[in-house]
Amino acid sequence: MVIKKKTIKKTARKMRMKGIILAGGTGSRLWPLTDQTSKQMLPVGRVPMIFHPLNVLVKAGIKDILIITSPQHSGNFVNMLEPLLRPYGISIFSSVQQIPAGLPEAFTIGAPFIGGDNVTMILGDNIFEDVDSIATAIKKFRKGGCIFAKEVPDPERFGVATVNSKGVVTNIVEKPLKPESNLAITGAYIYDNHVIKVAQDLTPSDRGEFEIVDLHNHYLQKGTLQLHKINGEWLDAGTIESWHEANVLAIEKGFVEKFDPILLEALEKGFRRNKAIGKAQLQAYQGIE
Ligand code: DAU
Repeated sequence: MVIKKKTIKKTARKMRMKGIILAGGTGSRLWPLTDQTSKQMLPVGRVPMIFHPLNVLVKAGIKDILIITSPQHSGNFVNMLEPLLRPYGISIFSSVQQIPAGLPEAFTIGAPFIGGDNVTMILGDNIFEDVDSIATAIKKFRKGGCIFAKEVPDPERFGVATVNSKGVVTNIVEKPLKPESNLAITGAYIYDNHVIKVAQDLTPSDRGEFEIVDLHNHYLQKGTLQLHKINGEWLDAGTIESWHEANVLAIEKGFVEKFDPILLEALEKGFRRNKAIGKAQLQAYQGIE
């Protein structure tokens, strides 16, 4: 009998994009507001803070989202979000970070979730007005790393990037005493699948934490780090002042009303189920005049 050799057609699996929201930490700067609840459950506008980073991932079309929390809040986010988003084919997963050992831990904790895919991480307390630019970059992303920067008056509070005249990143420093530029790196990061291995190989800094700047520098040295400047307001709502400011902006600028249609519809169903708001407000959330 002659066995015919089968021609095996190799079809390269298309990389998907997974999403992580890092919503751990102690929220100590917001105590006592955070004594019994997590910072990312505090309201920003009409919704808990976490809806804002979630909106970025939903706008980018991401279907698998992992929320990493501290042990005492595990389950809360998934209980709230999973029933809302399941009807739209969006799966919400939850993992616990035992102690806040640094942002890159999201990629080691999240490794089984990320699998062989690329990943976008957004910090649970970051509120962006320019959601569309980030969502577009996520959709276009193929490989390397991608970070988002915003000019701020107080760069020493953040990771700071220096770019040359061609817009190429030349240097990144975490919370420099004397910043070389006013370009703060925001809490939205896109990385290819190599990030898992890079995060696993990191060693803690002098302050005993794994540092996100070490991940950026890995991609910077490889020449595969892109930086996008974003427009509009950006807030890290981790202090009482910035949390208040986030609320004022969210209401004045209608951040919730501009959410992705999926999130708006999910919220609208929730509002109805809970008889939470009247018809006029519901119409406002739907953008109906
Ligand atoms: O907001 C943007 C800034 O976020 C960047 O410019 C910095 O480069 C980056 O290091 C980070 O700085 P922060 O000082 O804001 O990081 P923080 O330790 O406050 O953590 C940010 C959020 O992530 C916060 O909501 C708590 C959460 N977190 C933090 C750590 C260290 C975790 O869930 N787990 C952690 O291990």
